[in-house]
Amino acid sequence: MIPDSDIQTAREWLAGASRVAALTGAGISAESGIPTFRGPGGLWRNFRPEDLATPEAFHRDPNLVWEWYDWRRGLIAQARPNLGHYALAELEQKMGGRFMLITQNVDGLHNRAGSQRVLKLHGDIWWTLCTACGDVTSDYRVPLPELPPRCAKCGGLLRPGVVWFGEALPARTWEQAEEAARSCDVLIVAGTSAVVYPAASLAPLAKRYGARIIEINTEETPLSGAADLCLRGASGELLPRIIAS
Ligand code: OAD
Ligand code: ZN
Repeated sequence: MIPDSDIQTAREWLAGASRVAALTGAGISAESGIPTFRGPGGLWRNFRPEDLATPEAFHRDPNLVWEWYDWRRGLIAQARPNLGHYALAELEQKMGGRFMLITQNVDGLHNRAGSQRVLKLHGDIWWTLCTACGDVTSDYRVPLPELPPRCAKCGGLLRPGVVWFGEALPARTWEQAEEAARSCDVLIVAGTSAVVYPAASLAPLAKRYGARIIEINTEETPLSGAADLCLRGASGELLPRIIAS
């Protein structure tokens, strides 16, 4: 049970902030029925990341990697944003350019809930990237008619437009995320295990620059000790309570 006073404190911090940022992870989409990575039933309990989410794995067996992404795309296509996604979209509505959403998720549910200022640190599962000509495009077809998919421009092999283990984050997106962390007064960290870097370094960065950290998670994480407020529970329940007017 979260004391009402903690909810009230979060609401006051948000109301008093001139800039707010939020960092989200797979947990925010859990209530939409999309599996997380590390929890019970998490994807990395049943699959090895090095078989499916590295450039080496793709090089070895593009078909296998695409089959896994095609399956995940199917799950995501059937899912709908939940109240947590909608609450963050509402916060953007209220704060406009004073709010920035940073996500590690590739599911696109923040956009489907109406968020527009979204920095996608790990790319987007609906994007494809041509390994030959570099063309980036979106493809929402589920399932894909042919695996592995080929580039419409040059016939080259397409890969999912996501960041894999061992790869750098998109540079400009990462710069903007760091800037948002440095300049916010409050950082909401929701539904992330806070163990994957560099994303996990954003909260410590924000704190060094004076932000208050509100963590929303069903479990304790390595960030919890440094958070100014830990709200233990589901993001679909708690985000509306701290954001809705
Ligand atoms: P994880 O699966 O590591 O962590 C999900 C977190 O959400 C856990 O801390 C859970 O306790 C919490 N959680 C679960 N359900 C929740 C709920 N309803 N409300 C609030 N919290 C809940 O997912 P991420 O932290 O996003 O990267 O993982 C980070 C990155 O590791 C992913 O982007 C992905 C993965 O490997 C790549 O694929 C590059
Ligand atoms: Zn191409």
